[in-house]
Amino acid sequence: MSNDRGKIKRHGLSVILTHWLVALSTFVLIFSGFGQMPLYGRYMVDRIPGLSWASDFSVTLLIHYWAAAVLIGAVVFHLVYHGIRRDFDILPRRGDLRDSVRIIMATFGFGEEPENDKYLAEQRLAYVFIAFSLLLVIMTGILKVLKNLPSINYSEGFALWITFLHNVGTVLVIIGIAVHLGAFIFKANWPLLPGIFTGSIDREYAKERHGIWYRRICDDKDP
Ligand code: HEM
Ligand code: HEM
Repeated sequence: MSNDRGKIKRHGLSVILTHWLVALSTFVLIFSGFGQMPLYGRYMVDRIPGLSWASDFSVTLLIHYWAAAVLIGAVVFHLVYHGIRRDFDILPRRGDLRDSVRIIMATFGFGEEPENDKYLAEQRLAYVFIAFSLLLVIMTGILKVLKNLPSINYSEGFALWITFLHNVGTVLVIIGIAVHLGAFIFKANWPLLPGIFTGSIDREYAKERHGIWYRRICDDKDP
């Protein structure tokens, strides 16, 4: 369970790879998606050396398609991998809203944090929020790809709805990422950062903050 005495394994290679493929493809999708709108020419982003292609729709569309393929591949892998392993630690549970409030209050010095499992209640809620937003952009994105095929025509109303929902999804994804990254402003969450790069985190931190998880994986094996 551990590679050295002070560390404990939190994520395997496939989780780390999936996280970074999702993160990278999402950043590229946001940048290339905004490139579909006449923004980068207007605000002269395309004058920045090396970014002259940013206002060329055919280029940003191609990038958007490739990044979408990477995102969809990573999401499908994630669902199949954790589905087969029946590994549902990150799915929300009853009482998560209440516990999230307790965790946030405790961060500001009010009251005690509840005992945590592998993920904090607020991480489980953040996960469904980001998952829902990504599924929304993926599903509406696929409908938009179909619309771009010469053989498929939507009514004007339907096409507008799809675009509207794709844009709503975009805003939700951006909010989700801001909250996700915002969590790392707080020092209490810093020890989780090495885990998403190396797979391991500090053992003492795991024992103290993720006690339920720590006992589950360490009891009888590597106390
Ligand atoms: C510089 C960018 C990012 C950093 C430093 C980062 C960092 C992390 C870390 C440290 C964890 C693991 C937490 C743990 O072990 O409990 C994590 C989990 C996660 N990340 Fe990221 N992340 C980044 C970008 C993204 C992006 C762009 C997305 C989504 C589009 C994303 C979605 C998630 C999700 C859904 C989880 C699992 C739930 C959670 O821990 O909140 N991350 N991230
Ligand atoms: C985080 C993920 C994504 C973000 C932030 C994003 C963002 C955007 C934005 C801002 C636009 C321009 C406004 C619009 O026309 O609606 C756009 C257009 C588009 N997106 Fe996405 N998108 C994402 C994922 C996807 C995915 C997964 C697909 C395909 C499966 C996709 C396919 C398209 C298509 C076909 C267009 C229209 C291009 C055209 O003008 O013909 N997007 N996206």
